[in-house]
Amino acid sequence: MAPIRIDVATPSRAYPVIIEAAAIDRVGRMFDQLDVPERRFVVSSPLVWRLHGPRLSRGLGIREPILVADGERAKQLPTVARIYDALVEAKADRAAALITFGGGVIGDMAGFAAATYLRGIALVHVPTTLLAQVDSAIGGKVGVNHPQGKNLIGCFYQPHAVVIDPSLVSTLPRREFRAGLYEVVKYGMTSSAGLFDQLSRDRTAIFTREPAVLTPIIAESCRIKAGVVSIDEHESGPRRILNFGHTAGHAIEAVTKYRRYRHGEAVAYGMLVAAQLAKARGAIADRDQKALANLITGLGPLPAIADVSTAQILEAMRHDKKVVSGRLHYVLPTAVGATDIVTDVTETELRAALKAVGFRR
Ligand SMILES: NC(=O)c1ccc[n+]([C@@H]2O[C@H](COP(=O)([O-])OP(=O)(O)OC[C@H]3O[C@@H](n4cnc5c(N)ncnc54)[C@H](O)[C@@H]3O)[C@@H](O)[C@H]2O)c1
Ligand SMILES: [Zn+2]
Repeated sequence: MAPIRIDVATPSRAYPVIIEAAAIDRVGRMFDQLDVPERRFVVSSPLVWRLHGPRLSRGLGIREPILVADGERAKQLPTVARIYDALVEAKADRAAALITFGGGVIGDMAGFAAATYLRGIALVHVPTTLLAQVDSAIGGKVGVNHPQGKNLIGCFYQPHAVVIDPSLVSTLPRREFRAGLYEVVKYGMTSSAGLFDQLSRDRTAIFTREPAVLTPIIAESCRIKAGVVSIDEHESGPRRILNFGHTAGHAIEAVTKYRRYRHGEAVAYGMLVAAQLAKARGAIADRDQKALANLITGLGPLPAIADVSTAQILEAMRHDKKVVSGRLHYVLPTAVGATDIVTDVTETELRAALKAVGFRR
């Protein structure tokens, strides 16, 4: 299969997203063609490097990667400082390129290091989780958590290129794979009925993780994200539709201290809450709301919510950083593949929707 190329064109930078099975085996030549500076530093995690490092290392001709811990708890400034230390030690200059090789945590942290080291060196993402391939590697959001809250420190810094190898996700734990799929559901429900139908129809094939099955799904997700990011780099308008499921989702993650749910799982619940809100307003047909619920439940079990308090979720939503001058922008689905952004959702409506989805009163 020929590589797929999707172009992202933001005001700050235009760059390609290349999707190809086994891309990491020939990534060195690919980077040369993309004019990635030749002094290349790879940031990865011990686990990802053990699983896939030897191939990347051969494909890229580099010796030593910079290895740092990943996972949400490592996504902190001290880990970024370790990356700076390694770059300083190696005397990396403005002509260096930093290659991130890992999931969204590595991409966000190392991306932030690239954005700030010497006021910015070239950055290339080679994402290794499904979530990072369909979402976090595109769009330029980089940063870390603060002990008081998620993603509180960061900036926008667009990469020079994104190289996606769908075969890398074969080693993901099944739960991580599903967590990424919920973001794909988000793209389908907000922007592409075709993608939504494909997920519903090809579920069994998708779980084989054959690159031939995954490649078109990843590509369609990347096309949607690239399109939105290109017209709204800093998320002031259209990019907001990608927050579908994230308003309640972020609150669910926060009240459970980021421990119980993977981000995608919380978003899955968030999408159910948004669809329930829309249904109660008569903004979406019952059939479409049920189609979303069936697709989400059909992908596999989600961790329980019956003991998670509705009142706490409502409280967390009030503190959401996406509340703009006191108004919560809520993305409601209006049909499969279509949304509306409203700012008049009341707490009473939210409470009812959360309860209907199954949260504790
Ligand atoms: N920048 C953005 O626009 C954006 C968008 C969405 C999410 N995010 C961020 O992304 C992060 C979540 O990313 P994630 O879900 O990729 O989590 P993650 O980076 O923590 O990776 C999940 C786990 O999978 C492991 N892993 C990675 N690749 C693997 C592979 N190929 N095989 C086996 N195991 C592998 C990792 O070691 C880790 O334990 C969050 O911090 C979130 O804030 C950022
Ligand atoms: Zn998300």
